[in-house]
Parts: sequence; structure tokens; C-alpha cells
Amino acid sequence: MTSNELNPEELKAQGLQRAASAANESELKALEREYLGKGGVIQGLLSAIPTLEPSERGAAGKQANMLKGALSVAFEARSAELALEAVEGERLATGFDATMPAPGVERGSLHPITQVTRELEDLFHSMGYTILDGPEVETDHNNFEALNIPADHPARDSQDTFYCNKEGSLVLRTHTSPVQVRAMKHLKPPFRAVAPGKVFRQESTDASHEHTFHQMEGLVVGKDISVGHLIGAMKTLLAGIFGKEIEVRLRPGYFPFVEPGFELDARCPFCTEGCSVCKRTTWIELLPCGLVHPSVLRAGGIDPEEWSGFAFGLGLSRLVMLRFGIDDVRHLLSGDLRFLEQF
Ligand code: DAH
Repeated sequence: MTSNELNPEELKAQGLQRAASAANESELKALEREYLGKGGVIQGLLSAIPTLEPSERGAAGKQANMLKGALSVAFEARSAELALEAVEGERLATGFDATMPAPGVERGSLHPITQVTRELEDLFHSMGYTILDGPEVETDHNNFEALNIPADHPARDSQDTFYCNKEGSLVLRTHTSPVQVRAMKHLKPPFRAVAPGKVFRQESTDASHEHTFHQMEGLVVGKDISVGHLIGAMKTLLAGIFGKEIEVRLRPGYFPFVEPGFELDARCPFCTEGCSVCKRTTWIELLPCGLVHPSVLRAGGIDPEEWSGFAFGLGLSRLVMLRFGIDDVRHLLSGDLRFLEQF
């Protein structure tokens, strides 16, 4: 029986049934053209209306439009069904399921050393310091000689060095202090500068020793710089880090590039009676520092008769460990995501 011979109800039932059983998208498109397209079934019904009795025309028109609506809905529904079937087929064939929710996008975060470095840079910047950078491969001259550490100096033993060439003229810097030498050559006194960065030592590693770690060097050069200026700067720094005034004390310390040299301790910011951080002493060893040795000023092209300065070497890695309660320095550069995800 052709569609022409069916009444509208039968036409609808047949159309819906054919739509529902269309096997694929192209069959469905063909059906859509057959019913809804130019010269199609619906158009046939509509164009036959003028041949009807005037009293029947209204109802016929309405019926044709209702049929058109119902079929459109059916074609769309079958099309959506076919799309789902295609996905399911692909999943069965390949194991790939396009409807699976995508894995969540994981956000990275700044490494704790980067976080603390940036915080300190902001703090020093606000105190009028320039932030400097120096190379990790340094000359023996900048790393040692210019800092008053000649070749046979015993201080070299405590800084087991990775050499970069046979002659020994290039080294992986063992501390950030060589940036002092570079700073003196590039900045006109008076100036204040800090230089954060990686340093390297050929050491056997354990919970508190790592071959690669971070320091932040500080150097202030000016007229009549005294230990008072040094203490003042360190107290401002500590107030910035811990948000409160913190008492400091100096113990004598020896470093060839400062005279006098000190170890600066800070009152433990975490307790009043002693805790595990300060090992029950209420003092924390904060940093070595001192007044810049005249020979070091001279090696940097600065006249020690006219200028003086103080310097300090902040152990960034240690500070980060203190700050976040990290018990093993080797975690810091391990690249272990279980560690890093905590920051
Ligand atoms: N560069 C020294 C080291 O890594 C630390 C240091 C000591 C830096 C005293 C300084 C200083 O600027 O004044 O062992």
C-alpha cells in the first residue's frame, strides 16, 4: 500500500514506525526527505487541500501539520538514538567511551622553595634591595679567590666542590656568595642586594645534606655600615617573615669573606618554652653573616677606606623546611608528586 492510499492516521503510524526502525543516519535522512521534503508526503497532503470541499479544508490542513510535527519529533529522536548506538558500538569495538567524563584537570602549584623565595624577594624589595641573579657555573675566582679563599685555604675543604673543567677554573658555585663579587662590579655603592639561587656541593646526602640546595645571599654596601645595621636589617626581615618582632643574638662565626663574622640566631617564633623546632633551646640558628672583609671589597673594585658593608647567607632550603615542617631536605628536589601535591 503506498502512502497515497492511506488515511492520515495510518500515514502517521506508518511514518513513526519507519522512523523508529531506520537502521542508520542515511536511511533516516532518506525517510525525512520522503515525508517532509519537497514533493514529499506532507507536501502532497497540503497541495491536495484545494481539491477538497471547502468545509473539509481546515481540518485537512490541521491534520497535515500535526503529522508533520509528529514525524519531525520522531526523526530527531531516532537520530539521537543512532548517535548513542554509534558511541556504544565504538566503545565495544575499541574500548574507547566518548561519553566518559573527562579526567579532572589537575592544577599545579608553586614549589615551596619558589613560594618562599618570592615572598622574601617581595620583602627585600620593599626594604629597598635589588634582586640579583648569578650563574650556577662560576669561576673559581668569584667563588673562592675574590672571597678571600685562596687555593690552599682550609675553608675549601668544607665546600667540597664540583669542578667543571680539568684546569679547575670553572666550578658549580658552592654558595651564592660569588654574586657579591658580581654585584660590587655592577652596582655603584651605596646599594643593597639579595641573590637567591641554587648551590652545589659534592657531599654524601642525608636528611640534612643535599648536593643541590638553595641559598639567598645578601649584600649591603654604604658609608659607615656597622653591625647595628646588620642586626636592624635582620630584625626587619624576621618581622616580615613571622609578622611579629623577634629577638636576635650574635655568636662569633668564621667565614673568610667577613670580619667580624657571626652566626645569627633568632628567638624561636613557634614557642616560648622550647619546642621540637628549636630543639628545646628557644633559639633557632638563622644565618651566618658579618661585615664585608676589606679584601673582598677591594676584589670587587670598591675602596674599603671609603665604603663598608655587611653580608649574609640565608639558607633558603633550611628556611623552607622550618616553615613547612619538612624533616628531610631530600624531599625538596625529589620531584615526588606525593610530596609536591601538599603545597
Ligand atoms: N657563603 C657561606 C656558605 O655558604 C655563607 C655565608 C656566611 C654567607 C657569611 C655570607 C656571610 O654572606 O656573610 O657557607
